[in-house]
Amino acid sequence: MNKEQVLQALEHVQDPELHRSLVELNMIRNIKIDGASISLDVILTIAGCPLKAKIKQDVEEALLKAGFQNIQLSFGSMTDEERKLLSASLRQASAAESGMPALLKPDSGVTFLAVTSGKGGVGKSTVTINLAVALARLGKKVGILDADIYGFSIPVMMGITDKPVMIDQTAVPVMSHGVAVMSMGFFSPDNGPVMWRGPMLNKWIRNFLVNTHWGELDYLLLDLPPGTGDVAIDVAAMIPQAKELVVTTPHQAASYVAARAGMMAKHTKHEIAGVVENMAYMEEKDGTKVYLFGKGGGDQLAERLQTSVIARIPLQPAGEAAASSVADEETEAGEAFELLAETIDFTYKQL
Ligand SMILES: Nc1ncnc2c1ncn2[C@@H]1O[C@H](COP(=O)(O)OP(=O)(O)OP(=O)(O)O)[C@@H](O)[C@H]1O
Ligand SMILES: [Mg+2]
Repeated sequence: MNKEQVLQALEHVQDPELHRSLVELNMIRNIKIDGASISLDVILTIAGCPLKAKIKQDVEEALLKAGFQNIQLSFGSMTDEERKLLSASLRQASAAESGMPALLKPDSGVTFLAVTSGKGGVGKSTVTINLAVALARLGKKVGILDADIYGFSIPVMMGITDKPVMIDQTAVPVMSHGVAVMSMGFFSPDNGPVMWRGPMLNKWIRNFLVNTHWGELDYLLLDLPPGTGDVAIDVAAMIPQAKELVVTTPHQAASYVAARAGMMAKHTKHEIAGVVENMAYMEEKDGTKVYLFGKGGGDQLAERLQTSVIARIPLQPAGEAAASSVADEETEAGEAFELLAETIDFTYKQL
C-alpha cells in the first residue's frame, strides 16, 4: 500500500464534530509505511480535543480494515494559523458567491421557525426546545438558535453543561437530545471565553447564523425574546423566509399581547405557521381535562392572525421534567409536541 491508498482508506473517517473527512481537513499527516506496519500523525483541531478517543478508534479501525497489523498513531494539534485557515474554509463552505451564507439562501433547504409571543413567560423556550427535540425524534436534522441574547435560557432548560468548541472564529454547536444548540449562554463572561468581538446585538445574531458550523439542517428554530424589540426585527430582516410560531396561553390577556407579535409577523412579511396554545389544560388521572387558565385564548389569537391553533400543549406536572424542560416522549406533553412536530413537518417538509 502507498500513501495515496492509505488516504483513500481513511477518506470516510470523519471528524465527529465537523462531520467532514479527516483527510479533507488535512488532519492526517506524516504517513510512514513499512509492510504491514504504519505510523501517522493525527492533527486535532485543538489540543485536548474531547473526541480524541473516538477519532483514534475510527482511524485504527479503518487502518486494520485496510490490512495493517501494526499501527502507531501520534496526536498533535493545529497551529493558530492552521485553525484560521480551517475556520475560513468552513465558513466558505457555507457562504455563497454573493456573500450570503448558504444557510440563509432561500433554496438552502432549511426551514426557519421563529418562536414568538408578545408576552414573556408563556412558554416560548419550552415550545422551542420540545418541538426541536420532537422533530429530531422524527429523524430530522434540527438546530436551535437561542436568539434571546440577554435572557438566554436554552442551555439551562436543556441541562447543557458543555461549551461549543471554537475553531478560531467558527463555533461548533453543542449537541443535546439530538439537537444542535447555540446560545449566548455559552459565551457569558464568567464561564467560558468570549470569542467574538463586538457584542452588538445584531452582530451576535449574525455570528450565530454565519460563524457557526451548523452542518446540514432541516430545521433551525429561533427562540426569540418576548415582544417586538430589536432582536425580533433583526431576525425578521435577516431571515425573511422564517415562519412564525406564535405562542400564547389560554388566558385572553396573554392572547391580546401575543397579537402584537403576530402583527409584527404580518408587518415583516413572515409567514405565520400557526398558534401554539401552551399550558392549555391539565389532565387528571381519569383523563378529564381541567382548564386552569381558562379557554379560548389560542382560538381568539388565531382568528385575529387569520391562522389556526396547531397545537394545545398541556401543563406538565412539576417534577416530571426534573433535570431539564425536555418532556419525555410518553408523557401527555411529549405526545402533544410529537403531534406538533408531525404537523410542522407535514407542512414544511422539503420534497
Ligand atoms: N406546558 C408547561 N407545563 C408546565 N410548565 C411550563 C409549561 N410551559 C412552560 N412552563 C414553565 O413556565 C415557565 C416559563 O416558560 P418559558 O421559559 O418556556 O417561557 P418564555 O416564553 O420562553 O419566557 P421568556 O419570555 O422569559 O423567555 C418556565 O418555568 C417553564 O418551565
Ligand atoms: Mg424564553
